[in-house]
Amino acid sequence: MQLYIDTANLNEIRQAADMGVLDGVTTNPSLVAKEGADFHTRLRDICKIVKGPVSAEVVSLTHDEMIAEAEPLIDIAENIVIKLPCIIEGLKACKTLSDRGIKVNMTLCFQPLQALMVAKAGAFLVSPFVGRVDDVAGDGMQIIQEIRTIYDNYGFTTKILAASIRHPLHMVQAATIGADVATVPFSVIQQMMKHPLTDVGLQKFLADWEKGKSALSKGSAPGSGSSGGKPEPGKKSPKPAMA
Ligand code: G3P
Repeated sequence: MQLYIDTANLNEIRQAADMGVLDGVTTNPSLVAKEGADFHTRLRDICKIVKGPVSAEVVSLTHDEMIAEAEPLIDIAENIVIKLPCIIEGLKACKTLSDRGIKVNMTLCFQPLQALMVAKAGAFLVSPFVGRVDDVAGDGMQIIQEIRTIYDNYGFTTKILAASIRHPLHMVQAATIGADVATVPFSVIQQMMKHPLTDVGLQKFLADWEKGKSALSKGSAPGSGSSGGKPEPGKKSPKPAMA
């Protein structure tokens, strides 16, 4: 499973890249607006950090305008993926760009037939928004499951990118179903390596280690034969010397 980070924040991207398991980046107009940075400059900077796919979204609503908007984005770097909305004009633009060998990520996917259509148009990625479906009392993961089945039935190579991931359980479910990729906020990427029992266990190991070291330095390490009078398990206590 590939892991993308869903952000336009350079600091978060650098920290995730430093973990050594980051495969790509997705941005969207909301994430870029939050950063207050020039869109093209920010994409250029992101592409210097991450060599995998970096999604750049257009904001036009017609085929011709989408293509015109995509052109300068394509020129930014080889790993730019053009992100288009799952509407009919987006579908047409997906076909045009895919036929030219340009990778497209079809976003704002909320039902499996949109995923079927964009796969037929040659999309590289489809982005079903799991969290936003859950937000309105739907079952976002059910859509991932349906798309997985459809793609496997017909051998579509479009990658399912589980998007709008909100918490670690979403990740477990997406990975179990077989989403090809997940795009994840930095906070959730951090949570993916956390468990309270790991922290508790680590603290205990370190405390025991320190105890063992200080006992050694006092010449009374447990199990060293000078165990402060306590026998090791399975060993008899030495008999006291006869006076
Ligand atoms: O980038 C697209 C998607 O991941 C957005 O997520 O949390 O805004 O629904 P969210």
